[in-house]
Amino acid sequence: MKLLNSLILLVLTCLVSSINTQFISIQKYDFSGNCKNSSDSASSFEASSESAAICMQNDLLSGIVTNEGVCLIFNEVPTTFIISTKGDYIVRSIYDINDNNCQGGIIENKAIEIDECFVECADDYHGSTYLFSTETSLNYPSNTFMEISYNGECDGQWKTSFNYLQYYIVNKCNVAHEIETHTFSVGCNSTSSWVSEYAGEVCTVEPTVTTSYPIVDNCGDLDNSNFIDYCNI
Ligand SMILES: *[C@@H]1O[C@H](CO)[C@@H](O)[C@H](O)[C@H]1NC(C)=O
Ligand SMILES: *[C@@H]1O[C@H](CO)[C@@H](O)[C@H](O)[C@H]1NC(C)=O
Repeated sequence: MKLLNSLILLVLTCLVSSINTQFISIQKYDFSGNCKNSSDSASSFEASSESAAICMQNDLLSGIVTNEGVCLIFNEVPTTFIISTKGDYIVRSIYDINDNNCQGGIIENKAIEIDECFVECADDYHGSTYLFSTETSLNYPSNTFMEISYNGECDGQWKTSFNYLQYYIVNKCNVAHEIETHTFSVGCNSTSSWVSEYAGEVCTVEPTVTTSYPIVDNCGDLDNSNFIDYCNI
C-alpha cells in the first residue's frame, strides 16, 4: 500500500512538473507596422509596442521556441527569456555582446506582453513584427528549416533535453537585422540547407549568391550543447 501511495505521488509529481513546463515561442512576422518618428520617443520598446501591427499566419518568417532561461543569440545579442511569476508577461534579458554564455550579468531587462503583436522599430521605416507566446507543449511550424540545441548525450534525442530551436519558413523573404539592403531566403532538403541573398529590399528573382550547407549534427560545439539540423518539409 505504501509503495502504491508513493507511486501515485510520483506520477502526480511528474504530471504537475510536466504541466508546469512552459516553452516560450517567439514568432517574427513580415514587418507590418509604422515606425515613423519612433526615434522621437525615449523608449523604443514601449512606444513601438503601441504601433499598429498585425501578425498574419501567412506573414510568419521565422521563430524561436525556447526553454526558460536558456542563453541564446537573439538579434545578434546574447539573451535569455523567462516567464514572469504570474505568467502575464515575458522578461527578455540582454547581456553584453561578448557574453556568449550569459554569465556576466544582465545589462537590460524588457517586459514583453504575451499574445500581443507588436513592432520593434529600428528606424523610421524599418522594424520587426513579433508575437511572443507561452506553450505547454513543444510546437513548431512545418515548411521550415530548423536548428535545434539540446544538452546531454549527442544521440539526436533532442526533445528530452531540449534547450531551444530556431526555424525559418522556407522561401520567405527575410530582412537581416533590419538592414534593408540585406535580404535573404532559406531553403532545405534532406541533405542540404541553403541561404540565398538578394540585393535590395525585396527578394528579387535571382539571388546574388546562394550558399549551401550540409545537414549535420554537431556534438558539444558550444558550452557542451549539441546542435541538430532538421529540414521539416
Ligand atoms: C514626424 O516628424 C516629422 C519631422 O519631425 C514631422 O514633420 C511629421 O509630421 C511627423 N509625423 C508624425 C506622424 O508624427
Ligand atoms: C538537395 O539539394 C542539393 C542542393 O540543391 C542537391 O545537390 C541535392 O541533390 C538535393 N538532395 C536531395 C536528396 O534532393
